[in-house]
Amino acid sequence: MDQNLIKEIREKTDIVEFIGKYITLTKRGKNYFGLCPFHADTNPSLSVSREKQIYKCFVCGEAGNVFNFLMKYENISFREALKIIGDSIGIEVKSDNKVIKNKYDDLYEICELANTIYQNNLMSKEGIDAREYLKKRNLDINTIKEFGIGLSLNKRDRLTSLLVKQGYNINTLNELGLSSGEVDTYINRIIFPLYSIDGRVNGFSGRIYHGEAINKYLNTKETPIFKKGENIFNYKRARDEVRKNGFVIIMEGFMAVIRAYTIGVKNCIALMGTALTIDQINLIKKLSMNVYLCFDGDKAGINATINNGKMLKDNNFNVKVIPLSDSLDPDDYIIKYGSEKFYSLISSAISYNDYKIKNLKQGVNFNSADELTNYIDLVISEISTVDSEIKREIMLKNLANDTNVWYNTLEKKLNELLSKKEKTKVSIITHDIKERKKNKYEKTMQEIVFYMLNNKEVINLVVSSQVYFPNDIYRNLVREISDFYEKFGYINIADFLSYEKDPEMLKYLNEIIAMEIDSNVDSTVILELLKVIKDYNVSLEIKRLEKLIKEEVDPLEQAKISNEIMKLKIRE
Ligand code: UTP
Ligand code: MN
Repeated sequence: MDQNLIKEIREKTDIVEFIGKYITLTKRGKNYFGLCPFHADTNPSLSVSREKQIYKCFVCGEAGNVFNFLMKYENISFREALKIIGDSIGIEVKSDNKVIKNKYDDLYEICELANTIYQNNLMSKEGIDAREYLKKRNLDINTIKEFGIGLSLNKRDRLTSLLVKQGYNINTLNELGLSSGEVDTYINRIIFPLYSIDGRVNGFSGRIYHGEAINKYLNTKETPIFKKGENIFNYKRARDEVRKNGFVIIMEGFMAVIRAYTIGVKNCIALMGTALTIDQINLIKKLSMNVYLCFDGDKAGINATINNGKMLKDNNFNVKVIPLSDSLDPDDYIIKYGSEKFYSLISSAISYNDYKIKNLKQGVNFNSADELTNYIDLVISEISTVDSEIKREIMLKNLANDTNVWYNTLEKKLNELLSKKEKTKVSIITHDIKERKKNKYEKTMQEIVFYMLNNKEVINLVVSSQVYFPNDIYRNLVREISDFYEKFGYINIADFLSYEKDPEMLKYLNEIIAMEIDSNVDSTVILELLKVIKDYNVSLEIKRLEKLIKEEVDPLEQAKISNEIMKLKIRE
């Protein structure tokens, strides 16, 4: 790949502005800080340097240049990142012939085509009833277009025969869940396309619109490009809106998301089914750490709120709840009460803890000592998960008022629980931040590489010293940095990062970039560091010889080796 093009694109893109499009950055001193999107960050720990054109997170250690950021953030290849960033500043990155087509591209193409067919069906003469149904549900033509809503006709093999005629393989159609054998999966249903995280049609949900059926909705099952637990409805479309609003609203069904969209609430996503998976949680992290749960107001929705909310809280999200009355879902609620009412529900969303406590209270008989004690235990356990001391005190006071139990008794119980938790927490934290063990010599090698990446003089100094780096990773890094310098006549971290391709090396490089040391350095310091490595080599050699001498039986040879050792020890 053309290194000059890469360099040009990187130089013309300001990393602070670029990353600023994805996360909010605030200036502090020389650098800019924001919430790190690569771990569950609660304090801004991602720092972006305009001067060096790199970012690094001092908590999770993620670091790199503008390309690395986009690759990691969007989960895309270097080439794709280069193209996107190039596009954004008007530089065209031609895909060379060697580019391998993604092995699933053909499958996405078929889904896209099927969706077009469904959309045409809806607009055709045969689509009149379906259009009527959608109209009754208050879905206008703009919404239908925006969400790609379509219709499968009332014929058993309409889609299959069309696609087979166009040369597509029936097995592939089966594999995509569009058909089973020669028969269409979706017959006479309103079709809602489902989209992958990057916004390509990868599956479908078909709803009955008149008459009865066993399944109201029929969804694509697992296919090579559709995995239920890794999909989130409206993810791509919601992204920018989530950033604008600072939070994401999670709903149960996609009809709710579509309805909210029609009244201008566009930062909503839906889970396909109610239980969050770890994959989905990681995807939501990339949107925002602030989530509002707006599930259906029925029993199932309440349980889903509590269970999913707990999972999100355990993953460090800030969780709020938008409770809906009368067992309604957001769609019905908005239709029944209007958009204004829904907007005000959003702005008065309550914290997850308050929601849970309110819920625990339901049906408790306050006249029964047993039931009351049990309720108090549960509430105190909930209060103990709250970080703010003030909030805990307020909640505890409310509980005291509510139950007529003495505040100090409740407080004592809470403190017991908190200290028990503290103990387990400490052991988790120390385990968490334990860095990879590095000895003095590895740290020294890392420092040398760090200085090489920041000063070309250091490269010359290290190369001419001919010091052997006794570790493959650093030896290769030193070689590659000096290769880069020789080829391009300059050095900087941001460009070296797009030059280095080996993921193992990049891991170490990240550690080095994240080192908090001043990049200005004197040559005497470098020489001292190099001496540490030299001495280390000598000590390694002595160790090797001492081992050898033990295994040697010939006294003459032994003497020779021991002589060698003596010489080395004097040097040392
Ligand atoms: P709901 O039954 O709440 O549907 O299911 P809804 O969103 O209100 O849709 P309408 O208003 O009846 O058209 C919520 C979600 O559960 C899944 C779907 O993903 C749906 O969006 N579901 C529901 C199914 O997969 N199959 C079903 O038969 C029903
Ligand atoms: Mn509904």
